[in-house]
Amino acid sequence: IKKIGVMTSGGDAPGMNAAIRAVVRTCAYYNIECVGIYRGYQGMIDADFVKLDARSVNNIINRGGTILKSSRSAEFKTKEGRAKAYENIKNAEIDGLILIGGDGTFTGGMVFYNEFKVPCIGIPGTIDNDIFGTNYTIGYDTALNTVIEVIDKIRDTASSHNRLFFVEVMGRDAGFIALNAGVGAGAEEILIPEEDLGLDRLLESLKRSKRSGKSSSIVVVTEGDKIGKSVFELANYVEENLQQYEVRVSVLGHMQRGGSPSCFDRVLASRLGVKSVELLLDGKSNLMVGLTNNKVTTTLLDKAVKGRHEINMELIRVSDIMSI
Ligand code: F6P
Repeated sequence: IKKIGVMTSGGDAPGMNAAIRAVVRTCAYYNIECVGIYRGYQGMIDADFVKLDARSVNNIINRGGTILKSSRSAEFKTKEGRAKAYENIKNAEIDGLILIGGDGTFTGGMVFYNEFKVPCIGIPGTIDNDIFGTNYTIGYDTALNTVIEVIDKIRDTASSHNRLFFVEVMGRDAGFIALNAGVGAGAEEILIPEEDLGLDRLLESLKRSKRSGKSSSIVVVTEGDKIGKSVFELANYVEENLQQYEVRVSVLGHMQRGGSPSCFDRVLASRLGVKSVELLLDGKSNLMVGLTNNKVTTTLLDKAVKGRHEINMELIRVSDIMSI
């Protein structure tokens, strides 16, 4: 391996820049060239490349977003798109790829490898934490901290007005953000796709909270879990059927993807970035680097995509006990 291409793809996540920095500097350490590919797979198709050296990544460890920009490329899903991408990779003499992203990013890397045999290593970067083969994805810890900071603020107004707040958080169809931020922020109820609480139990639980002397409540809802309703319909339903609280909805949205990465995400990104380059130099491909029990580990990309990172059921119990 003489020249590595690095890119970020899919939804951006805080810490992606720290991962890019780690990849670039590890390449410099081993005296190999590094090329940044802008806008993920779309940049491969458009030959949107930039040469990166150790100094190109100064002062980015603390920055949110991704200096390489990101996209979800529809063209790369076509055979013609991938053939164009391969031509450009070949012309640029890139002989290994490091792909920072989630499921979609890794699937793209595997398809590309099967067609053109360009070795690739994946680094999990997504706020959703929904990737098998790692306890943590880059960006998740920062997103959790952002969410609890905001819920703390919502709690102030909820308690001043004796209101019930529904706070919708991201996570696509995974409840990691909701469950962990919900416990961390002291939510009364947490609705996640992995556990179907059901409307009756939700109402019962909120009634119990009220009876126990609480004057306001916070329910954290994963965007993918609406018990068949939108968060606004859910809030209306509860307001009408509970008749005990004024209800408000707060959808946190993309602010959860922004901001300066936490120390945890910066360290994680640095560790995974170093390992990803070393794996390519060792002749490895189709692996994802991850963190398991605080050790850097590898998982086949295929398994990372197909496996399901299980939610921690103990946290559901903790949340139930805490909301007494
Ligand atoms: O995967 C990250 C994520 O932020 C999800 O939590 C969310 O469902 C999705 O991306 C939103 O995607 P977009 O930015 O394309 O609206």
